[in-house]
Amino acid sequence: MSDIYKPFVDVSGAAPREQTKWSSIIVSKEDIDLEIERLINLPKPANGRRAALIVHPQATLPGLGFAPSTDVTINVVNPGESTLNLRKNSNMLEICLSGQGVAVVGKREIAVQKWDVWNTPAMQVHSYRNTGQQPWVRLSYSNAPVLEKLEVHFAEEFEGDVPPADRNTTPAAPRGDVSRARDLALREQIGDDGAHLLGYEWLIDIDVVESKPLHWPYAKVAGYLPSVEDLAKGYNGRRLFVLYNPATERRNGTTHSFFATISSSPPNNSHVPHRHSSSAINYYLRGHGHSMVEGRRFDWKAGDLLLSAPGWAMHAHNSGSETVSSLTVQDHPFHIGIESLIWQERSYEPIIALGSQPGFESNRGSL
Ligand SMILES: [Fe+2]
Repeated sequence: MSDIYKPFVDVSGAAPREQTKWSSIIVSKEDIDLEIERLINLPKPANGRRAALIVHPQATLPGLGFAPSTDVTINVVNPGESTLNLRKNSNMLEICLSGQGVAVVGKREIAVQKWDVWNTPAMQVHSYRNTGQQPWVRLSYSNAPVLEKLEVHFAEEFEGDVPPADRNTTPAAPRGDVSRARDLALREQIGDDGAHLLGYEWLIDIDVVESKPLHWPYAKVAGYLPSVEDLAKGYNGRRLFVLYNPATERRNGTTHSFFATISSSPPNNSHVPHRHSSSAINYYLRGHGHSMVEGRRFDWKAGDLLLSAPGWAMHAHNSGSETVSSLTVQDHPFHIGIESLIWQERSYEPIIALGSQPGFESNRGSL
């Protein structure tokens, strides 16, 4: 066979491909509890990670997720156990479901309990140890599926302080007060429209925004929830807070890939259907209700996990007879970063590329 490959696919006159939306699915609290029980009873794995991915039936290898960009993993650390160190270029946010433990992330030790949320920045060494008498259970969300699809998911697991890939490397000399090489490289505007030229050093010495592990203790977050639950009936926004990590700047994320929000919706609350190219995964902390997604009804309750908004699926959520709180995770910052976050806040309004076109309003000002 020849090494010369003819890589051409004729798309002359072709229409855009119709997208295959993943279907909404619910993973029930009962099934999640059974899986947690199974993980508790496993012999301890060598790396200490008792873990199960929650995989959507339409997911394909590599990079199995619950949404195309997002994996969701159930993790258990039994009493007295801890895990090996891990370093990877995917980012994570996690929520503690039960028990208690310490997440060691970089130089920080974060002691967490039920419904606390925290983030693990990419490339920070992290590990977990149970500090209580009960199994410590957490859900983690990561962008590993994207990196696996790109075949660039870097991950290494190790004992000790120095990651294996760093063991035979020479650190760059400290810069001290010497000016940056990029300051000597060209940076010049060449057109009235703003087009510039940059020299190479601009590519390898990007301005740093420090990426830190942050902790949102539920006890503190809960204190703010009545203020959104009590917004007047007829409020047409969402009753929630973003767990905001300032390192994500205008992308309003909890990590550079995801925002996590915690909501508090009063009984019998609903809104006009909307859609967005970001996918949304809801984990229900309390209450019950139903969602309409692309015309199909999904009933859910506390402890269920729902792919509540497959990217670009029209959806609306309705609380039942009790207050509903959910942790919602969306790959919103990821899409803003690549200008692909399209949003239609109400089904009768235009589609807007959020972040590069003026956004939407709620009726908060007129309540
Ligand atoms: Fe939504």
